[in-house]
Amino acid sequence: MRVPFLDLVAQQAEIADEVLPIWRAQFTSAAFIGGSEVATFEREYAAYIGVRHCVGVANGTDAVELALRAVGIRPGDEVIIPVNTFIATAEAATRMGAVPVFVDVDEDFLLIDPSAVEAAITPRTRAIVPVHLYGQTAPMDALIPLAARHGLVTIDDAAQSQGASSTGGRAGRAAEAATVLGAKGKAA
Ligand SMILES: Cc1ncc(COP(=O)(O)O)c(C=O)c1O
Repeated sequence: MRVPFLDLVAQQAEIADEVLPIWRAQFTSAAFIGGSEVATFEREYAAYIGVRHCVGVANGTDAVELALRAVGIRPGDEVIIPVNTFIATAEAATRMGAVPVFVDVDEDFLLIDPSAVEAAITPRTRAIVPVHLYGQTAPMDALIPLAARHGLVTIDDAAQSQGASSTGGRAGRAAEAATVLGAKGKAA
């Protein structure tokens, strides 16, 4: 038996009955930007994560960039991110002229290492972008107090871990602002 490495057709089939009627209604009304389905998604996703606001945007890269802009990051500011994230996390910072500073991850879970974050902080550091990876949550219990001690904001990138949870709640709940694929979490 040949098992394909990636079978998108099988994945789509699992959700087709639920998604297609809504997609058909969207197609008919041509409400592709905003509209009642987006408003419903924003409301339901905020409730699912446990935050007050969710704002739908075009994609995950825009979500990180907009969140950085919303908390006041400016060109030249340093933004600490893990070395092993998808390029979009760093790209969102560079698109607005901020400087991504890459820090190492822990060896067991491959998540951003708070001690590496602390060692990378300089007078120009303004934000930490923990990335929740591989269905896990970044160590927010350590990062939130660390950020508070240094007067930094945290912007979570939860594109790869929507729905993952830990003692602090679901990925994206603990930070000032959080981004998931195509959606921004708690308003800054
Ligand atoms: C960790 C992470 N952040 C951000 C993004 C960017 O998302 P998009 O491709 O929707 O811009 C991705 C995409 O895979 C991602 O894996």
